Amino acid sequence: MIYEAIPNNIKQACELLSQGQVIGLPTETVYGLAADAYNDRAVASIFHIKRRPAINPLIVHVGNVAQVDEIVQTSTMAAELMAAFWPGPLTLVLPRKENGPVSLLATAGLDTIGVRMPNHPIALELLHSFGRPLAAPSANLFMTISPTTALDVEQGLGDQIPLILDGGPCQVGVESTILDLTTDKPTLLRPGGVSVEDIEAVVGPIHRLDPEKNHTIKAPGMFKRHYAPSKKVRLNAADALEGEVFLGFGPYSGNRMNPDDKNLSVTGDCVEAAANLFQFMRQLDQKMQYHTIAVAPIPYTGLGLAINDRLQRAATSE
Ligand code: TXA
Ligand code: MG
Repeated sequence: MIYEAIPNNIKQACELLSQGQVIGLPTETVYGLAADAYNDRAVASIFHIKRRPAINPLIVHVGNVAQVDEIVQTSTMAAELMAAFWPGPLTLVLPRKENGPVSLLATAGLDTIGVRMPNHPIALELLHSFGRPLAAPSANLFMTISPTTALDVEQGLGDQIPLILDGGPCQVGVESTILDLTTDKPTLLRPGGVSVEDIEAVVGPIHRLDPEKNHTIKAPGMFKRHYAPSKKVRLNAADALEGEVFLGFGPYSGNRMNPDDKNLSVTGDCVEAAANLFQFMRQLDQKMQYHTIAVAPIPYTGLGLAINDRLQRAATSE
């Protein structure tokens, strides 16, 4: 059930988490399915509820830097990135502390942990009152579109979790950027809410994984098909064809006016487009009269990199 994020309900959420239960949590990127990161059984429930393969590690969310030091080994570069982007949509993959308290299941047995401090007042308040890190993947069933409102979570998983805290629509709208700091040069594992340009302004050039290669070992969760609507998705479309509904970007210059079409950002702003992406995909996916969502080209700069990544995963049939 959806609960308003008032102090009493946050307290209730803490109690449920202490009992090893799983709850729906707002963050600035997408809603998370959160559980006590130190409790194996609670973490196991996340995988079960999400129907997610346990080879796919979870991001561990922290409320302060002291919690980071408790679970991973940091570095000067990690500290610089945290200072620049936390709280915010940047996940850092760091070496796990030997015999550290995070559930091994949460990290799929890897000797690294992806950590981030979310920039959402309710997530931070909950993390502070709970006092321990929270393991949380996006609160959607495996392979479906990530939720950006409490209602999305309710519709997908509401019958399986006791409580969803309502934090309003997510401001960023795409998942965090994942940066691996355990390699010689920092490696981008997933483009997301912090742009590569902004990261490089702090730490210099980073390495990008070639999306055409299979990186199952480094980032087990990076399945090619992901974020999938049930309709087909056709990318780089100038306009919609027969039976297609159009997801535009920038001023529309096509020759068809369909009131069902949507525009991610009429002004061509990638930040606005990211915030709208998953909501608009959901809305278009529900229009039964179309078989395909045709999507306008999106530039590969700033958050456009993350938008293109999610669109390509939605479009692939593998
Ligand atoms: O914005 C976000 O990151 C959201 C919100 C809820 O914080 N969370 C999210 O989690 O997107 P999820 O589980 O849907 O995606 C986590 C990704 C997976 O692709 C996983 O493979 C990768 O993070 N990941 C987690 N820990 C990792 C690690 N130690 N090494 C490499 N990749 C890791
Ligand atoms: Mg996800």
